[in-house]
Amino acid sequence: MQANRAHWSSRIAFVLAATGSAIGLGNIWKFPYMAGANGGSAFVLVYLGCIALIGFPLMIAEIYIGKKSQKNTIEAFETLHHAGTFWKSAGFLGMLGCFLVLSFYSLVGGWVLDFEYQSLLHRFANESDDFVKNYFVDLIHNRQGTQIFWHSTFMLITIGIVAKGVSNGLEKWNKILMPILFSLLIFLFVYSLFLEGFKESIHFLFAADFSKLTWKSVLEAVGHAFFTLSLGMGSMIIYGSYMEKEGPVLKQAAAVVLLDTFIALLAGTIIFTIVYTFNAEPGAGPGLMFVTLPLLFKQIPGSWFVSNAFFILVFFAALTSAISILEVLSAYLIDTKKWSRIKATFLVGGAMWICGVLCAYPKLIIFGKNNVFDVFDILSSKITMPLTGIMISIFFGWVLGPKAIEEAVGIRSKFLLQGLVWVVRVIAPICVAVMLYKGILEVF
Ligand code: PHE
Repeated sequence: MQANRAHWSSRIAFVLAATGSAIGLGNIWKFPYMAGANGGSAFVLVYLGCIALIGFPLMIAEIYIGKKSQKNTIEAFETLHHAGTFWKSAGFLGMLGCFLVLSFYSLVGGWVLDFEYQSLLHRFANESDDFVKNYFVDLIHNRQGTQIFWHSTFMLITIGIVAKGVSNGLEKWNKILMPILFSLLIFLFVYSLFLEGFKESIHFLFAADFSKLTWKSVLEAVGHAFFTLSLGMGSMIIYGSYMEKEGPVLKQAAAVVLLDTFIALLAGTIIFTIVYTFNAEPGAGPGLMFVTLPLLFKQIPGSWFVSNAFFILVFFAALTSAISILEVLSAYLIDTKKWSRIKATFLVGGAMWICGVLCAYPKLIIFGKNNVFDVFDILSSKITMPLTGIMISIFFGWVLGPKAIEEAVGIRSKFLLQGLVWVVRVIAPICVAVMLYKGILEVF
């Protein structure tokens, strides 16, 4: 173990930080709108299946690879396997994913900051429902200056925190913020129980209806399973590498997966309750959260307090994820290329900032059919994350093998172990490979 490597103070601290990475815009913003656009329950079912069959085993694999190697995402593969040179490309591919994701993630983080600022001014309180419904569309289509201002703010805060080092600031903030986010979501959930759209929301999200199942929704669900669990980019490898080297990772991996899934379902239920209560459009796309929540906040007592608390917390959820993305690239440049932390974070963050600015222009079409935002989103969720995931699964299952899997889960049940070995070796890579193929067909 490197003596000077930063470490989490406890296993709980790791779980909070990893949960902080996993729970983010993916849960509160992306999951509900994807479910809405892909037929609700059909999407949710496939998503839950992907989490169990692919997400959970890969979570174990990534955390284990980091923990066991105590290295950044590139060196980890070489450290665990003498011929790890080929596998290093999984690390590089993950980094490409980090680059693509943080560029647009920071822009969306900026939207959250703008909504927080509007909440601070209590802007929506006396406006009509139509005004609230149109505010978001106007922001992304016509107000690039505002978007870039908030995107810059979000990126600077992310860079500032990563530049200061992970363990202290990050661990502390995660410990404070995650429980508050959790409590606030429960509060909003309880509130939504009393709204008339609640039943319809539950029906939309959970009533099994396979007639709505399409290849497209399966594809989106696989991609989203990676995105929401922070897999296929190296974030869990790098966070695992800040754990003490010895000991299994099963419980920690399970905690992160369960908490992340629970929060996504909670956020989805709340948002669709509002959609059905206020006759909003379930398939509204990326604007869903930004349109529905301000509509609700307008109506409820203490709306100023609740809406400010909510957007600040979404901001923090996004921030704790963004940090874990920037850390992957920074840790590599610091450990391997011997850059200073300041130089690494500012240069990488700066480059992502530029790409984020391009994402703010919805009419800027690249590769013929999509704008920069969509290209980055599609390339990462449908190509780089699944491909990296397949490589990690094969590395864990075949190269490191059953012994490593046994060490990672720390259980003696032959049956469970055998099952997991098969999932990691065969089932997960094949399922993801089919999706990757479909994804490639869709993109090109
Ligand atoms: N999991 C985060 C979210 O749901 C996003 C993320 C993806 C973070 C990949 C790190 C790595 O918002």
